[in-house]
Formats: sequence, structure tokens, C-alpha cells
Amino acid sequence: MPQIFSRKANVLPSLSLAASGIGGVLAIAFVWYYFSPEYTDVGYAPEQPVEYSHQLHVGELGLDCQYCHTNVKSAEHANIPATQTCMNCHNQIRKESLKLLPVRESSVTGKSIEWIKVHKLPDFAQFSHAIHTNTGVGCETCHGRIDEMEVVAQAEPLSMSWCLDCHRNPEQYLRPNSEVTTMGYEYPEGFIELNMVRIKAEHILPPTNCSACHY
Ligand code: HEC
Ligand code: HEC
Ligand code: HEC
Ligand code: HEC
Ligand code: HEC
Repeated sequence: MPQIFSRKANVLPSLSLAASGIGGVLAIAFVWYYFSPEYTDVGYAPEQPVEYSHQLHVGELGLDCQYCHTNVKSAEHANIPATQTCMNCHNQIRKESLKLLPVRESSVTGKSIEWIKVHKLPDFAQFSHAIHTNTGVGCETCHGRIDEMEVVAQAEPLSMSWCLDCHRNPEQYLRPNSEVTTMGYEYPEGFIELNMVRIKAEHILPPTNCSACHY
């Protein structure tokens, strides 16, 4: 388990000494939970090797997330599209654009574009896209208004307290499964009551026990 303490241990030097037993783990978790800066990684928006814009492709052209992120409803990890997905259009559109040069190169050489990962949980935290996107948690709830982003930026803290806030009150967040990829979704009046009915009927019970997210 030592890797659990590596990331924020410097904030808690004295407590990490006591971290050998489960009591230590809980003490650290307690301190971490209540005092960690809520917004550490919010706003992280690394420069990408291609100036790909969600604002253009999703916001203006209206492409659905799943045109590119094909496995978000079936797999744990969401995929970044292969170059061929871009070439479906860009072997016709803007064929000469310098901005698309790395895409054409990748298509010719077969070497993937090296996109820089924006959202990253530590290895000791378990997360699955499939379970969330099949239970009515919108992409927007966790990733923000992707359709308005020229460059993807992290919108939510992805911290443990953030995960647990929804796991304890899912009725405040769920939307119909058919609206999961919708951007700018407007919750209907009385949605909390509707969600409470759904949660009961479908036995939706997001876990709050440690072992669900930490093996
Ligand atoms: C035309 C293809 C395409 C479409 C459509 C698309 N994306 Fe993306 N997406 C990409 C590419 C390429 C990247 C990697 C480069 C980047 O981060 O901008 C990416 C990155 C992301 C990331 C950041 C991944 C990381 O590194 O953490 C998120 C989140 C994301 N997309 C969500 C969405 C959502 C939500 C939608 C629908 C509203 C969507 N995307 C539609 C191609 C697409
Ligand atoms: C469904 C068709 C379609 C797909 C798929 C698509 N694009 Fe585009 N892309 C467009 C259109 C249309 C434009 C705007 C062209 C214009 O402004 O005349 C564009 C513009 C661009 C531009 C700006 C080019 C310039 O010279 O300003 C970049 C960069 C780009 N796309 C990258 C990508 C990447 C990377 C992918 C794959 C992840 C991708 N596109 C997938 C249709 C698509
Ligand atoms: C409950 C919150 C949540 C929802 C809902 C969600 N995501 Fe994510 N997404 C995350 C987290 C957390 C990560 C980082 C995962 C990791 O590091 O293992 C992530 C990572 C990603 C990545 C980067 C994957 C990679 O390995 O580079 C993409 C792309 C992505 N999400 C797209 C989407 C799309 C599209 C949707 C909607 C269909 C969606 N996500 C819904 C929380 C969410
Ligand atoms: C906006 C709401 C929301 C957020 C945010 C959220 N979850 Fe969930 N989570 C759910 C719901 C709803 C379920 C499904 C529960 C069910 O079907 O019983 C779930 C289920 C899970 C499960 C159980 C998977 C299984 O196989 O049963 C795990 C693990 C999990 N979430 C981890 C996370 C982690 C880690 C984060 C933060 C990075 C997170 N969740 C953020 C709503 C959320
Ligand atoms: C819903 C999922 C979820 C549950 C349940 C959960 N955690 Fe976490 N936990 C996370 C995530 C995600 C992170 C990483 C957050 C980050 O990167 O900021 C984390 C981080 C941690 C850390 C590391 C803090 C650090 O210094 O980096 C500890 C310790 C921890 N959890 C202990 C626990 C304990 C003990 C429990 C049970 C009381 C628990 N967790 C329940 C999701 C969860």
C-alpha cells in the first residue's frame, strides 16, 4: 500500500509516519478528505500536438462524443480516437492545412499522435466509464462544457470528496441515459423526485466503502 501515500504525503509529514496500519490509513484519509485543496488540478489544459478543437467539432459541427470516444459506454477507460477517425473527413477537408500536418504524417507512418492526457486518477483509485455512462451520469457532469473548449481543460477536481459527494447524493446529478452525451442539458422541474423514484426502481447504489474504489 505505500504508494497510497506518495502523492500528497508531503502535506502530512507527521501523519505519514503513523501510516503503517489501517488506523493510519483512516487518519490520513480523514485529514486528506477534510483539508485537501478541493481544486488542485482544475484548469489543467496542456498544449496538444494538434490544435484539435472540441468547440469546432462538437459545438459547431455537432459530432456526438461517441463518434470518436467509441467505447465510453462499454469499457473502463475511454479511448482517444485513432488517426483514421480524423482522416474520415480530413482526407477531403482542409487537405493542405498546416495545422493538420501531424495528422497526415501519422496517417502515413502509422505512428499514433501523442496526445497529452488531461484527466488522470492515481493508480490506486478505480474508475470505470461504462458503469457511470450506463447509469445516467453525463459526460458534462464530470468533464464540463467540452463543446465550448478550444483546448480541453479539467473542469472538476476528481478528488475523493468530489466522487463521494455524488455517491452520497446521486439524485442531484442523474439524467436519462439517452442524455448522457448531451452538452448544456437542462434538468426538468422535479427531477430530484424523478431520480429518487428511478434510484429505487433500478437499485442504483453508488458505493462509499473504501474497497469499491481502492483494491
Ligand atoms: C472528432 C473526434 C472527437 C469528438 C467528436 C469528441 N472528442 Fe473528445 N477528444 C478527441 C481527441 C482527439 C482528444 C485528445 C486531444 C485533446 O485532449 O483535445 C479528446 C480528448 C477528450 C477529453 C480529454 C481526455 C484526457 O486526456 O483526459 C475529454 C474529457 C473528451 N475528449 C470528452 C469529449 C466529450 C464529452 C465529447 C462529446 C461532447 C467529445 N470528447 C467529442 C476527439 C473527439
Ligand atoms: C466529421 C468530419 C470531421 C472529423 C471526423 C474530424 N474533423 Fe477536423 N474539421 C472538420 C471540419 C468541417 C473542419 C473545419 C474546416 C473549415 O473551417 O473549413 C475541421 C477543422 C479541423 C482543424 C483546423 C484546420 C485548419 O486549418 O484550421 C483541425 C486541426 C482539425 N479539424 C483536426 C481534427 C482531428 C485531429 C480530428 C480527429 C481527432 C478531426 N479533425 C476529425 C471535420 C472533421
Ligand atoms: C463520473 C465521472 C465521469 C463521467 C460521467 C465521464 N468521465 Fe471521462 N473521465 C473521468 C475520469 C475520472 C477520468 C480519468 C480516468 C483515469 O485516469 O483512469 C476520465 C477520462 C476520460 C478520457 C481520457 C481517457 C484516457 O485514458 O486518456 C476521455 C476521452 C473521457 N474521459 C471521455 C468521456 C466521455 C466522452 C464521457 C461521456 C460519454 C465521459 N468521459 C464521462 C470521469 C468521468
Ligand atoms: C455525478 C455522480 C458520480 C460521480 C461524480 C462519480 N460517481 Fe461513481 N457512481 C455513480 C453512480 C450513479 C454509480 C452506479 C451505482 C449503481 O449502479 O448501483 C457509480 C458507481 C461507481 C463504482 C462501482 C462500480 C461497480 O462496478 O459497481 C465505482 C468504483 C465508482 N463509481 C467510482 C467512482 C470514482 C473513483 C469517482 C471519482 C473519480 C466517481 N465514481 C464519481 C455516480 C458518480
Ligand atoms: C467513490 C470512490 C472512493 C471511495 C469510496 C473511497 N475513495 Fe479514497 N480516493 C478516491 C480517489 C478518486 C482518490 C484520489 C483523489 C485524488 O487524486 O485527488 C482517493 C484517494 C485516497 C487516499 C490518498 C490520499 C492521498 O494522500 O493521495 C487515501 C488514503 C484514501 N483515498 C483512502 C480511502 C479510505 C480509507 C476510504 C474508505 C473510508 C476511501 N478512500 C474511499 C476514491 C474513493
